[in-house]
This record gives sequence, C-alpha cells and structure tokens, in this order.
Amino acid sequence: MEFYLLPLLAFLSLTLTAGDSDLPSEIYWNSVLPNTPMPQAVKNSLRPGVSKGGVSVSTGHEEKPGYVGVTKAKKPIFFYRYAATEDQLHAHPSVALFFLEKDMRLGTKMNLDFMKNTNEATFLPHQVATSIPFSSDKLPEILDQLSVKPESVEAETIKNTIIDCDRPGIKGEEKYCATSLESMIDFSTSKLGNKGVKAVSTEVENKSQTLYRIAAGVEKMGGDVSVVCHKMEYAYAVFYCHKIAATRAYMVPLVGRDGAKAKAVALCHTNTKEWNPKHLAFQLLKVKPGVPICHFLTQDQIIWVVSK
Ligand SMILES: *[C@@H]1O[C@H](CO)[C@@H](O)[C@H](O)[C@H]1NC(C)=O
Repeated sequence: MEFYLLPLLAFLSLTLTAGDSDLPSEIYWNSVLPNTPMPQAVKNSLRPGVSKGGVSVSTGHEEKPGYVGVTKAKKPIFFYRYAATEDQLHAHPSVALFFLEKDMRLGTKMNLDFMKNTNEATFLPHQVATSIPFSSDKLPEILDQLSVKPESVEAETIKNTIIDCDRPGIKGEEKYCATSLESMIDFSTSKLGNKGVKAVSTEVENKSQTLYRIAAGVEKMGGDVSVVCHKMEYAYAVFYCHKIAATRAYMVPLVGRDGAKAKAVALCHTNTKEWNPKHLAFQLLKVKPGVPICHFLTQDQIIWVVSK
C-alpha cells in the first residue's frame, strides 16, 4: 500500500500547506514544454480548495479521492453528430453560440455567456489517477473506489463520462480521455510534437459580463491541425482530448460593455459539409452545411496548436 499512499500524501501536503511549491505535474509540464506557459484552464484544474463547488475531499479512506458536487453531465457542443433540440434553439436566443468567420473582425458586437462553466474538479496526481480504473466494464469498481453510491446522480454522471470516453471517435477521430495532466501533455505532444507547441484557453475578467465587442488584434494561431481538450464532468479533472483537422484557431481580444477584457479562443471549422444538416449552428446562422462555423471555447477547454 505504501506506493499508493506516498504520492497522495505528498500531493496533499503540497496543495494544502505549501500552495506555492511546484506540484509534480507542474514540474512535468516545465520539463516537456519549457517554453509554453500554462493556460489558465490548466492552472484552474491543478489546485483544489481555491473555489467552491466540486472539490475533492478526503473520504476517510486515505487512499481514495472522494468527491462532492458532481453535477448532471452536459453534452459538450462539439458532439456535432447531434441535431439541435427545440430546447437548445430556444434556451439562449440572444447568445452567440456560433458565428461566421467573416464576423470575426474589429467592432463586431456579440452576446457571450462565459458563466456556464462551473466544472471545478481538479487533477489527481498521475500515479493516483492511473491506479483507479477508467472504463465501462469497471464501473462498479470505480464507484466503490470513489465512494459513490451506485444509484446516485454522481454515479450517473460518472457513467456518462466513461461512456463518452469509451465510444470510438467518429470517422477515425483520434481521441483520448486524459485522467491526469501528465496524460494530457503526453497525448497532445504525441499528436503535435513539442516544438512550437502552444496551449491556450479562454480567459475572462468578468464572467457576469455578456455584452462584448471584438477589439483590435485578432490573431490566427497555429496550423489547421490542433488538439482540443474538453473538461468532462467527473469526480476529478478528466479532459476529453481529440486531434482535429480542418480548423482555424484564433485568439480574439474582446472588451465588455463595462470595460472588462477577455481573450477568447475561437475555433472555426471548415469541413462542415459532414456535419448533421440539422446542427444547431446551421439553424441559428441560417447557413447550409459547408459554410465554416466558428465558436468560442469555454474557459475550461484547452487548445493545443503548433506555430511554425
Ligand atoms: C461585471 O459585469 C456585470 C454585468 O454587466 C456588471 O453588472 C458588473 O458591474 C461587472 N463587474 C465588474 C467588477 O465590473
């Protein structure tokens, strides 16, 4: 059992008492990606206890990460095989979920809702994460290890995330669910290399602000291949990462009506011919499959690009 307890205890003493010391995963980041600053979305998933919400707690079994506050699983909008439901169409009629690439220019006004993101689960130390099973056929064992009751909402959320992670990607999509920061780094660099890699996320000063206009300095990032990682609802930080092609990524500076700044990552998909013709984006923007569709990444998504 020692091999199990040691990393967890080291983790706890680092995060709870010496918040400023480097965690092993930060050291790993700096060794693999010495010239890549850590995006805010990664920093937010590193240290528990900084904010309220889904925070890891001790369960009394020292070696098991317990959990409170898993919410009902949301389908990330990138699951583009789904057609829009009536609910989705009417939920936020004024919020710009999607936009056209031609509108990504100085002065365009947009209603954007950056509040939604409340997933505050944090990464487990790599050794702990790899010692907990993560596949549909191990569900009872997973629930037991995480001290989650089988009939609970939390169990349902855990099950849904594992099913999404187990499902093969569409059309040979290269995907991977990273259960630790080290695994996310390894997957992303295995797809993109580690030279000139940049990892970025959307950063917002005032989350309550919804009225924005695009400021000067829209910047295209990387080539047309990137890796995008979406934070899943789970007992600890798990990111669904997939390699995507036929996309253009931009860093878009925004200014809120109150003057608050945001730097939002926009992703424009150029191969939308293959999307479901009833996709929400086509209905909202009143365009046909084939037209490039852009959307902003939420604050808990990470994009990895390579700049030449
Ligand atoms: C944030 O935005 C909201 C909504 O516009 C506004 O009421 C509030 O004053 C802003 N907060 C700050 C600190 O500027």
